[in-house]
Amino acid sequence: MGNTFYITTPIYYPSDKLHIGHSYTTVAADTMSRYKKLRGFDVMFLTGTDEHGQKIERKAEMAGKTPKEYVDGIVGWIINLWKTLDIQYDGFIRTTDEIHEKCVQKIFTKLYEKGDIYKGVYEGLYCTPCESFFTKHQLKDGKCPDCGREVESVKEDAYFFKLSKYQDALISHIENNPDFISPQTRQNEMINNFLKPGLEDLCVSRTTFKWGIPVEFDPGHVVYVWLDALSNYISALGYLSEDDSKYKKYWPCDVHLVGKEIVRFHTIIWPAMLLALGEELPKQVFGHGWLVIDGGKMSKSFGNVVDPEILVNKYGVDAIRYFLMREVAFGQDGNFTNEALITRINSDLANDLGNLLSRTVGMIDKYFGGKLPKEQEANDLDAEIKALAAAVITRYEAAMEKMLFSDALTEVWYFVRRVNKYIDETSPWVLAKDAAQSAKLAGVLYTLAESLRIISVLISPFMPNTPKAISSQLNISGAELQTWDSLKTFGLLEREVAISKGEIVFPRIDIKKELEELANAQKGGA
Ligand code: ME8
Ligand code: MG
Repeated sequence: MGNTFYITTPIYYPSDKLHIGHSYTTVAADTMSRYKKLRGFDVMFLTGTDEHGQKIERKAEMAGKTPKEYVDGIVGWIINLWKTLDIQYDGFIRTTDEIHEKCVQKIFTKLYEKGDIYKGVYEGLYCTPCESFFTKHQLKDGKCPDCGREVESVKEDAYFFKLSKYQDALISHIENNPDFISPQTRQNEMINNFLKPGLEDLCVSRTTFKWGIPVEFDPGHVVYVWLDALSNYISALGYLSEDDSKYKKYWPCDVHLVGKEIVRFHTIIWPAMLLALGEELPKQVFGHGWLVIDGGKMSKSFGNVVDPEILVNKYGVDAIRYFLMREVAFGQDGNFTNEALITRINSDLANDLGNLLSRTVGMIDKYFGGKLPKEQEANDLDAEIKALAAAVITRYEAAMEKMLFSDALTEVWYFVRRVNKYIDETSPWVLAKDAAQSAKLAGVLYTLAESLRIISVLISPFMPNTPKAISSQLNISGAELQTWDSLKTFGLLEREVAISKGEIVFPRIDIKKELEELANAQKGGA
């Protein structure tokens, strides 16, 4: 089964508002998943929610609900957000699903029976918001090194996972598989800051709260939330269940997409668990950067969140998805500003792509009454456009394979701009004045329409709706004209293109007026 592709997002904490930063991980995973589907892979794209732990238990209590009631309300909202963003996942796992809970219990028992989990006493420090254990020397100014909040001292009976036993195996796996941790900088960080200084065994159960998966053979203990959460990537495939056909088909995972702050869990704890279970390791963990506002990570508690629903309602889902994937090199941090968003919409979408479509459709309408004649003549520039399309497709493919989304889009827009320039160079309005140039004029308009077909296939992983608008305005109906293979031939579109005028795909935005409105909407929504 070489033709499968398994990609995951982290499972999200059910917080009452996920912001544009969370949407970023999911949009990226969806884009990759749609790209692989376009390439003919049998794709499994998994996302879900991480619902256990002390933090949730406390929030539910404050809301006067049981933890399950509390999370149920929020999970519905998250699923709707993914609909709004046109996320086409193949699996959605909740850590409160029975299949997951049973799987985690079996994993825990299996590791205990093998001797990789043992009982002891835990004494140390715990950050509840991060669900992370720390030693004293790991703290920063006496506070949590990750979020800067107070930590609590805990002392309780607990089970431990023999993480230290896997230290050497992990180091050599990382060194022998240079793509395992991507980008490269995150790899050095893991080796130098965590693995080389030495791993300590990990506390993997808690007794001081209830909202978790009980240890099967010692139910006063609940399973540590990260061991619970990480298992989602295999529990969702039916690992250790009666039907593990999906596990057999899709594991090992091709890529776990995660934000940079949780690379550590995914490249140390998770592979150590898998080694202990005797299972294969994921092929890659890709740690992307953060969307930041004024240099700081977006966070509800800092009051600087950007609500993706407001943005989608105002500008449409394709514009938001385009911006997220185009603006920041995947892997690096990027600043989010409303101004950058609107500037991109105006320049890349309204001006470059929107104009190309409306000019093409408008001219076919105006000069040929809506349908190109069969008699068409090529011009000197056609060969260049064709060759450029082929080169752009090759470079786009190379970028996509490395998840360099911004580079892939840059290539497409290089082509979009070149084709717009072709309009000016061929001056259809001049050709239109001379009846003897009709075949030449039709040839120019055909090149434009065919370029738009190519563009619409290339943007389809990023923007699920715009290709539909392009296809409907150019009457591209055959599915065979929208496949990856169809990119190999420039000229597949039938010559007698018949257009159906449609709405402007990306209207220009009045930036000053819009920035004021947005500032108000986001204040109101926070
Ligand atoms: O960490 N920019 O869940 P989570 C970019 N439940 N990405 C961001 C971001 C920002 N401003 N803010 C959040 C968890 N994210 C665990 C995962 S997996 C077994 C368990 C990303 O809801 C963040 O980096 O806090 C992470 O990848 C994802 O949103 C979920 O974060
Ligand atoms: Mg987080």
